[in-house]
Amino acid sequence: MSVTRSGVGMWAIAAADFGAELELVELPEPSAEPGQLKVRLFAASVNPFDRKVVDGMFRGSDHVFPLVPGTDGAGEVVGSGERIFGTFFHHPVGVGTYAEYVTVPAGNALAPLPEDLDPAVAAALPTAGMTALQLVESLGSAQSVLIIGPNGGVGSFAVQIARAAGKRVIPVGRGDSLVEADALIDLVSNDRSSFEANARYAPLAFNTNYVSSDPAQNFGMKGSRETLVRLASMVQAGDLDVPIARRVPLREAVDVFAGHGPGKTVIIM
Ligand SMILES: NC(=O)c1ccc[n+]([C@@H]2O[C@H](COP(=O)([O-])OP(=O)(O)OC[C@H]3O[C@@H](n4cnc5c(N)ncnc54)[C@H](OP(=O)(O)O)[C@@H]3O)[C@@H](O)[C@H]2O)c1
Repeated sequence: MSVTRSGVGMWAIAAADFGAELELVELPEPSAEPGQLKVRLFAASVNPFDRKVVDGMFRGSDHVFPLVPGTDGAGEVVGSGERIFGTFFHHPVGVGTYAEYVTVPAGNALAPLPEDLDPAVAAALPTAGMTALQLVESLGSAQSVLIIGPNGGVGSFAVQIARAAGKRVIPVGRGDSLVEADALIDLVSNDRSSFEANARYAPLAFNTNYVSSDPAQNFGMKGSRETLVRLASMVQAGDLDVPIARRVPLREAVDVFAGHGPGKTVIIM
C-alpha cells in the first residue's frame, strides 16, 4: 500500500496504532491520486464507526499510520474551489476527515455544499442522516415505531424524519420500557440476544450493528449523492434540525471519542 504525501504539513488527529489514543499530529498533506479529489476541510463529524476503525474493524485491509479517522466532512476541492460534503471513507484506511486536508475518490457519496448551509451542519449529516432517512423509508406503512437510542446521531434524525412521515414515534432512552409497536429501530444492541429480545415487540425490526441472525433485520446504509441532496434540502427548508452537541476545534479534538450529549460532535478546522 502506498499513499503519496506532498511534504507540506497539516494538523490532524490520529492514532499511532490500532486501539491507540488519539493525538494531535503534524502530517504531510495527502496527495490526490487519479480519480481522487483533494479537499480542504471546513468541518468533520464524529461517528461511532470512526472509533471502530481505530479499534481495528478493518484489520487485514491496507491501513496508513498514523491512522486519521473520520468519514464525514464538508470542505472545498483544492484547485476548483467546489464546495462539497459527504462521506470520505476509502481504502487504504487512515486518510480520514479529522484533518485539515483529505483525499477522496470522486465516486464517493458527495454532494454540493450549499452556500447558505453551515459547513458544521453539513458535516453532521452524511452517515447519521442517510442512515436515518433510509431506515425510516424501510418502515413502509408502519404507523408506529420504537426507536432505541433516540438521542444520538442516527436517532435524533430518525425521530424527526419518522414524525414528519406521520408515524407515531416511541423513543426508548436508557431505562425506558418497551411497548408493542408496528416497527422497531434498534440503534443500541451489540449482541444477538439483546436485539432479538427487543425485536419481539414489533413485527418489523432493524438493527444497525449487524447482530441479527436474520439478514433482513441487519440494516446497512447505502451512501448516495441523491440522499445527501435531499437531507440538505430538508435542513434548508427547516424540516430537519441538526442537533450539534459539541463543536470542537481540530487542535483540541483528541477526546472526541469520549462521548457527547444529544446529537452530534463536530470538529471545526
Ligand atoms: N449499519 C449502518 O449502516 C450504520 C450507520 C450508522 C450508524 N451505525 C451504528 O449505529 C449505532 C448508533 O449510531 P449513532 O451515530 O446514533 O451513535 P451515537 O451518536 O453514539 O448515539 C447512540 C445513542 O444511543 C444511546 N444509548 C446507548 N445505550 C443505550 C440504551 N441502553 N438505551 C437507550 N439508549 C442508549 C446513547 O446514549 P448515551 O449518550 O447516554 O450513551 C446515544 O444517545 C452505532 O453502533 C453505529 O456504529 C450503523
